[in-house]
Amino acid sequence: MSKQALLEINDLLVAFGGFIAIDHVSLSVLHGEIRCIIGPNGAGKTTLLDAICGKTQASQGSIFFAGIRIDNESEFKRTRLGMGRKFQTPSVYDDLTVYQNIQISVPKGQSMLSAIFNQDYQFDDEIQAVAVTTNLENLLTTQAGTLSHGQKQWLEIAMLLVQHPKLLLLDEPVAGMSLKERDQTVDLIQRISATQAIVVIEHDMDFVKKLSGNVTVLHQGAILCEGSIEQVQIDPRVREVYLGD
Ligand SMILES: Nc1ncnc2c1ncn2[C@@H]1O[C@H](COP(=O)(O)OP(=O)(O)OP(=O)(O)O)[C@@H](O)[C@H]1O
Ligand SMILES: [Mg+2]
Repeated sequence: MSKQALLEINDLLVAFGGFIAIDHVSLSVLHGEIRCIIGPNGAGKTTLLDAICGKTQASQGSIFFAGIRIDNESEFKRTRLGMGRKFQTPSVYDDLTVYQNIQISVPKGQSMLSAIFNQDYQFDDEIQAVAVTTNLENLLTTQAGTLSHGQKQWLEIAMLLVQHPKLLLLDEPVAGMSLKERDQTVDLIQRISATQAIVVIEHDMDFVKKLSGNVTVLHQGAILCEGSIEQVQIDPRVREVYLGD
């Protein structure tokens, strides 16, 4: 395993019965890196994140995270080691306020300690800080059910950030967002990449371009090519997959 890689995937294979959804994928993500995964519908992007976070078991290959082999570990253990996963459809508690949604995401050990030592104020500061990072500082007392789809996406990211993940796995975080919200999400992701690595799946090429991270193109479960968005966009294999050139 290379020294600075936070996540290293070697020869990963995920099969559903006889169908190969992830086909011998090898990939590394460095500390502080923004890695975009793009590819047509059904390319295997979500399945790749599922295999990384432990929602789906790999059939073959290995995954190392922060130097620890994790492909046989549970989803829970991987979360504890510092993986935060955001799914394609945001799931927040509609009846609770933005503040309460973030508060209940504070890891249990920490919230129990805070109750014993009466350190609620500390978490209050942290919740406020996370809300500022995710553009939600003026919505803390708003019921989550009344937020726009885009704001719910940010709230889900806030609920992950309060757990201090080393790696964030974001599946289509700007789906359903306005152009302005997309640009705000670019800023948000670039801000948080100072403290964590981020793997982001996205279809919106303009958004991927603005993120200016490294891009991996998946097609039929395999890596087609990697590079900057400018490099992958002129790759004839990518043009064929996307445009049928
Ligand atoms: N649990 C499962 N059982 C069987 N096949 C599955 C399962 N999950 C995913 N697949 C199949 O694996 C392939 C990859 O699906 P996946 O959801 O990873 O694609 P994706 O790249 O995320 O697509 P999209 O852009 O539409 O979200 C698809 O053909 C899908 O039908
Ligand atoms: Mg998907």
